Amino acid sequence: MKMTTYARIAGTGSGLPDKILTNKDLEQFVETSDEWITSRTGIRQRHVVVEGETTCDLAERASIAAMQAAGVTAADLDMIVVGTTTPDLIFPSTACLLQHRLGANGCAAFDVNAACSGFIYALSVGNAYIRSGVAKTVLVVGAETLTRMLDWSDRNTCVLFGDGAGAVVLKADTETGILSTHLHADGGKKELLYNPVGVSVGFKPEEKNAGVRVLMTGNEVFKHAVKALDSLVDETLAANGLDKADLDWLIPHQANLRIIEATAKRLQMPMDRVIVTVHKHGNTSAGSVPLALDEAIRSGKVQRGQLLLLEAFGGGFTWGSALLRY
Ligand code: UT7
Repeated sequence: MKMTTYARIAGTGSGLPDKILTNKDLEQFVETSDEWITSRTGIRQRHVVVEGETTCDLAERASIAAMQAAGVTAADLDMIVVGTTTPDLIFPSTACLLQHRLGANGCAAFDVNAACSGFIYALSVGNAYIRSGVAKTVLVVGAETLTRMLDWSDRNTCVLFGDGAGAVVLKADTETGILSTHLHADGGKKELLYNPVGVSVGFKPEEKNAGVRVLMTGNEVFKHAVKALDSLVDETLAANGLDKADLDWLIPHQANLRIIEATAKRLQMPMDRVIVTVHKHGNTSAGSVPLALDEAIRSGKVQRGQLLLLEAFGGGFTWGSALLRY
């Protein structure tokens, strides 16, 4: 009898810049307050890159930690998938830069751009390659330096984001692993959350601050996120014939504590079964879910055999989930 092959999380890791910016620090250069940021978002501080520090630097740190935890070497990797919307360069991909740093030259390596859902999208790719038997060991990373494209005079956006990377090593396993992934997108809502700078639309690198500018209609994004995540968690449980009571942990995208609480309420989950890192990291886009997952595992909260629901929502719009038995 042929056994089912699952993609199992064999190890996780984090990469955060050393520099921390608190809400009080932000009060110095934008009209805001610690009280406003904390009460509206739950964010108290965020890590930010310094001059010369890149997305690949953070991805490398997270990847080395994940590979050590999984007990795999560069030679074991069949594929590297990096979810990012802030690559070091337009090309080569951050995954290619990372592959060379890790000494894994030769394996497949590519980026996935799904904004804040980038890690979930990348995870679904790694899962599909392992489930189909094409790959045995896949490094999946979510890595961002969103603060590189913020307008630091725009209080609507600059208080929300931080930098960071998380990584997981997926290994083929017959016992346990990712049960399903669910991906969605709606390109019709572009104007609510985007960066208008690009290559093909006419990139003018000589312009001052070219590339800087995340534009967001926050309260509209908020409403869409809550609605999309509500139906996404229902869809994910239904696809597996499971009930919300079966879940051990919710590991959500960390954009806003109020969005996280709304999803937890939908699932009737007490907040002590929800992993929250938004107060420390801010919104690290594709970095947020794997950073939260790594913290949950390394702190000993999440135990082998438990049922985890991962979800994210972001620019595109994109949204997605993964249900897994850790
Ligand atoms: O990860 C990708 C997906 N992104 C998200 O999920 C973000 C979703 N959106 C949000 O998290 C929230 O909408 C925000 C945190 C961005 C904003 O919170 P809100 O409760 O929706 O506030 P709002 O946008 O409706 O603005 C309320 C007020 C406005 O003032 P008026 O017009 O009422 O006088 C804003 O100008 O708050 C003002 N405001 C600020 N005040 C102090 C906006 N930003 C700030 C600020 N400090 N940083």
